[in-house]
Amino acid sequence: MINALTVTAQALMEPSKGLLAMDESVGTCNRRLAECGIAQTEEFRRRYRELLVTAPGLSPFISGAILLDETLRQNTRDGVLLADVLRAAGILVGIKVDAGTTALADHPGERVTEGLDGLRERLARFATLGVCFAKWRAVLVIADGLPTQACIQVNAHALARYASLCQEAQIVPVVEPEVLMDGGHTLTRCAEVTTEVLHQVFEQLHEQGVALEAMILKPNMVLPGLSCGEPASLAEVAEATLSCLRRTVPAAVVGVAFLSGGQPATLATARLNAMHQPNQTSGSPAFELPWPLSFSFGRALQQPALGLWAGKDGNRVIAQNALLHRARCNAAAVQGAYSDAMDEEARAA
Ligand code: 13P
Repeated sequence: MINALTVTAQALMEPSKGLLAMDESVGTCNRRLAECGIAQTEEFRRRYRELLVTAPGLSPFISGAILLDETLRQNTRDGVLLADVLRAAGILVGIKVDAGTTALADHPGERVTEGLDGLRERLARFATLGVCFAKWRAVLVIADGLPTQACIQVNAHALARYASLCQEAQIVPVVEPEVLMDGGHTLTRCAEVTTEVLHQVFEQLHEQGVALEAMILKPNMVLPGLSCGEPASLAEVAEATLSCLRRTVPAAVVGVAFLSGGQPATLATARLNAMHQPNQTSGSPAFELPWPLSFSFGRALQQPALGLWAGKDGNRVIAQNALLHRARCNAAAVQGAYSDAMDEEARAA
């Protein structure tokens, strides 16, 4: 059965494609709608997600879409399940199964992701609905003395338990330990923390018998904190991120698909592109990457489209074009073929 899971995981990592993360929780989605002056109702979340999944021409760039439970139950205005629209376009349907984060007891400023209770039953139900992959996100904060070992360990343990339950249910786990960008930390500090987190995640995955050949890792890029005074170049980010991944991610993992974490959309694309430049990925066999490196972006794919839509039917087409454009740019980045000109031409048009 691991074979069937591996085939699905490989399909998700199809060369020059990536994942569309559109699984924002109700609270997060409402917050993003509010920022664009859009009503925060189930109907507007449905309309927005209908706009995303019905964008024509997405499938050459997008292999899978991660949905929220609510979206899995929603239809287009014509009564077609949104999940069926994706499947008809050849896009695999995934689901977010964590229940969000809660404060970690006795560890101020740190959070643990919940959702393991009843997960076996929920996964079984999702599998009957044709869901073939899932996502669980853990968050780690960098600050003075943070993250603690306690926080890293409980989150790594939960990620591994989730991944094991997914594989039991014949669902490919996307394992997402996110080291947040917030804070004034340097690129070097982010590299240290991300390295430690990934070591612990893979140790727990090993302890719990998760088949690496049937999972995808969704990490953060290694970046300086948002309020760090020392900016990092594209090449520095690429070098720091790839060194960290080479040291921590076993070659058996099917693929690595980055989250965007709130980076400006074009910058996330440029950084992904920098990681695919020949000097980063070859030159010496020791530096060949053992896994494909792709994207599983939320905001960096959706944000321009959401702003242009503004909740108005008349803006659907321009919003869908904006989504398609970001998907095309990121698919180009995965091949090292993105250039600023792609965005400049789009802006001019
Ligand atoms: P961002 O790309 O906006 O970080 O979202 C990815 C995601 O799935 C967060 O869990």
